[in-house]
Order: sequence, then C-alpha cells, then structure tokens
Amino acid sequence: MKTLKILLIIGIVSFGLYSFDLYVQEEWDIPEKYIKMKNPTYANKENLAIGKALYSKHCKSCHGKTGIGDGPKADEFDIDIGDFSSKEFHEQTEGEIFYKSYIGRDDMPNYEKKIPDPEDMWFIVNHIKTLEEYLKTIDK
Ligand code: HEC
Repeated sequence: MKTLKILLIIGIVSFGLYSFDLYVQEEWDIPEKYIKMKNPTYANKENLAIGKALYSKHCKSCHGKTGIGDGPKADEFDIDIGDFSSKEFHEQTEGEIFYKSYIGRDDMPNYEKKIPDPEDMWFIVNHIKTLEEYLKTIDK
C-alpha cells in the first residue's frame, strides 16, 4: 500500500513537471541586427492594403483575422502563438516582429522562400501594427 502511495505521488509530481514544461515558453533569441532594423516601407493606404492581403493569404489560418491567435489551425499548437492585439506584443520593435515573422522558429514557419521579397514582409508588419488600433474599435 505504501509503495502504491509513493508511486502515485511520483506520478503526480512528474505529470505536474511535464505540464509545467509545456507552458513555459522560451524567449525568442533575436539577433541585435534585427532588433534595431528600421522598417524601410511606409504605412500608407496602398501598402497597408498589400500587407492585409498578404496577411490573409499567409498568416490568417493560424493567427486569425484580428491577430488574436484564433485561426482555424491555431488549435494544432499547445503553445501560445501570440496575440497581435496586446499591448505587450506592440512593445517590441518592428524589427523583432519582422524577425519572428520572416525567420520564424519551430512551429512558426520560415517565410524566406514563400515570400522572397523582404519588402512584402514589411508590408505585413505594417498591417500587424494596425491590429491593436483595430481591436480597440471593436472591443468596446
Ligand atoms: C501554421 C501556423 C502559422 C502560420 C501560418 C503563421 N504562424 Fe506565426 N506563429 C505560429 C506559432 C505556432 C507561433 C509561436 C512560435 C513560438 O513561440 O515558438 C507563432 C508566432 C508568431 C509571432 C511571434 C508572436 C509573439 O508573441 O511575439 C509572430 C510575430 C508571427 N508568428 C507572425 C506571423 C506572420 C506575419 C505570419 C504570416 C506571414 C505567420 N506568423 C504565419 C504559427 C503560425
């Protein structure tokens, strides 16, 4: 009986540690060069329209229309895929957003081949930067 109890405790503890591990997401390791990168494009009407269209084509399936991470494919991941409407998200530099979007890591795909012109990714970044404002208008 005692052994059973001990085994049970070991089981619970290791399950706890395992689930804890799942929820601790590693920080991104972004090269300095990217963090300081300046957006070479302007967020005018025309560029924003291109960014929005590219976002719908490449990103919406996971990140969702408004960027909150509710796309149809988002359920495939048990990690946090980010919330492009949050204040914390917009506290990072545009270069950081560009790096995560273009280079990616693990489940976040790399887009260097699918979107060969980096300028197009900057158009997407411009669009993502508008999502916070957009959500403010529909939340309340
Ligand atoms: C197949 C699903 C999928 C698609 C499509 C996808 N992403 Fe992601 N994205 C993820 C996942 C999963 C993560 C979390 C990765 C991690 O933290 O390891 C992520 C993370 C991110 C992050 C970091 C979020 C944060 O909190 O800082 C950004 C920025 C991002 N994606 C941008 C994009 C852009 C832009 C596109 C389209 C060009 C795109 N993603 C397409 C799955 C996807």
